[in-house]
Amino acid sequence: MSKFFVTCARGTEEVTAYELEEIGADAIEIGMGGVHFEGDQDVLYKAHLWLRTANRILLPLRSFQCRSPEEMYDNLVKFKWETFLHGDLTFAVECTISGRNSITMNHSHYARLKAKDAIVDRIREKTGDRPNVDTDHPDVRVVLYIRDGVCTLNMDATGESLHNRGYRSRHAEAPLKETLAAAILLLSGWDGETPLVDPMCGSGTLLAEAALIASNTAPGLLRERFTFMNWPDFHAPRWEKCVEEAKDAQVELPDNFLFGFDQDRDAVKQTEFALKVLGFEDKATITQAKFEEFQRPEGMEQGFLVMNPPYGERLGDEEGLVPLYKLMGDT
Ligand SMILES: C[S@@+](CC[C@H](N)C(=O)[O-])C[C@H]1O[C@@H](n2cnc3c(N)ncnc32)[C@H](O)[C@@H]1O
Repeated sequence: MSKFFVTCARGTEEVTAYELEEIGADAIEIGMGGVHFEGDQDVLYKAHLWLRTANRILLPLRSFQCRSPEEMYDNLVKFKWETFLHGDLTFAVECTISGRNSITMNHSHYARLKAKDAIVDRIREKTGDRPNVDTDHPDVRVVLYIRDGVCTLNMDATGESLHNRGYRSRHAEAPLKETLAAAILLLSGWDGETPLVDPMCGSGTLLAEAALIASNTAPGLLRERFTFMNWPDFHAPRWEKCVEEAKDAQVELPDNFLFGFDQDRDAVKQTEFALKVLGFEDKATITQAKFEEFQRPEGMEQGFLVMNPPYGERLGDEEGLVPLYKLMGDT
């Protein structure tokens, strides 16, 4: 059993905790912007496959006092990095500093460089090799949180954030984050069986997440690589078993299940693109239409409506939105 911390959007921790319960995690405890849990390798693998609201899963390894960059270096250089970084594996360090720290420990960029030096020096001393840094797609990601003079060293089990499911069109404007869309749907009271309507679908995030939920598709199946696969204890047959179980759990969506509308032609194309990438295009009807002209889709007895209307990002935007929000209430 290991202890983990899964990060998620603030305010969605309870949904993430519920999802963790569903996959059999233990000692679930809600934190700020994430949830602590315990589990074995199966739980870690299932978490990467099944969690819809999580961004990253971290394995906290140790905490130490960190009042200066030198103290941090001295602690990090003692860690057995050679067990994680071998062969040609690349690495990256991410560092977040918050709370009250000493004056020399307040610069995350410098702390990151110092941590990188400690890792490189340790590996060079033990193996004679110099590991390469790759900040974009590292094989091993080290995450440091420095708060109130204490540094927590974590290994990132995930790599690229889980919100990046890979169905999003490059042209999407102001899209909802995939993990947040999933959290909204899981909190909404939707039963996953009633046809779903999004009358302002934008790039289709809510519809895409709804399709994944209703078809019981594990979102992790959309990805091939996670950084835990580079860890020394990675057990490929166990992972494959979890993947096969997830594939077997998938169910077919009913016809005429998803309905999307948007006044913008590009938004309609983006939603169609997302649903096509996921293979649900024949279960959805996406129409260019204004909300004010919204009609109950033909043949629909009962439906569940969910939407993410424009909310105004700049000061003064709100005033222009008053008529739209009034209209939404009236329709
Ligand atoms: C915040 S975006 C939705 C983003 C979407 N949830 C996503 O993840 O991409 C709001 C959408 O509402 C659409 N919209 C605004 N007013 C509308 C109206 N009166 N009728 C239909 N669509 C409208 C916009 O074109 C925009 O795509």
